Amino acid sequence: MAIKACVFDAYGTLFDVAAAAREAAAEPGQEALAGCWQAVAETWRQKQLGYSWLRAVTDTHDDFWQVTGEALDYALAEQKLADPLLRERLLALYFELPAYPEVPEMLSQLKASGYTTAILSNGSPDMLSGAVTSAGVEPVLDAVISVEEVGVFKPDRRVYDLVETHLGTAPAEVLFVSSNGWDAAAAAGYGFQTAWVNRGGLPMDRLPWRPAHELTDLTLIPDLAGRL
Ligand code: LAC
Repeated sequence: MAIKACVFDAYGTLFDVAAAAREAAAEPGQEALAGCWQAVAETWRQKQLGYSWLRAVTDTHDDFWQVTGEALDYALAEQKLADPLLRERLLALYFELPAYPEVPEMLSQLKASGYTTAILSNGSPDMLSGAVTSAGVEPVLDAVISVEEVGVFKPDRRVYDLVETHLGTAPAEVLFVSSNGWDAAAAAGYGFQTAWVNRGGLPMDRLPWRPAHELTDLTLIPDLAGRL
């Protein structure tokens, strides 16, 4: 079925989640972080996702900003870098993460071709608004949909249901794009057409479902949408 809407995961897909630790590490006085920012970024991300899944299965939802702060606390403690000012700085940078370089042009191309464009993310409305505004992509997005409406994180089906609720497009008319293998896989199981953006050359997640398409970045999304 032809694609009517292209829906994107936010963190790691449109926005570079490693940028906060990388940028903070380059600032004056951050020599300790400079030696381990990759480890901080990696643990921060893995704990953020792990905590989101644990909150979903234990029915103890809190918003993604809270979970992101808790995951950061773990990552800093692991490196013996716990410090309120560093925490505050990293979270401020996370609130305004940069988009990957190809994102504005790719979204503009989709809009010019008549597709509906949207974000579907674990992010809280505030943090999504911060990232979308700082990346300057608000004009090329029709909708920014947060899981907060249903109070549970991906990959709960109630989250993916929000696409049809907001956009009025059936799952088969949606190309869902995520850099998170588990998100792209679960979205395929849900019934979306799916593309996994595998920037790091990672192996495919071993789950009951597989994304139909795999790309190395977002540049060819308009081309893929046109071929489906
Ligand atoms: C999101 C997380 C999963 O944006 O990256 O939903």
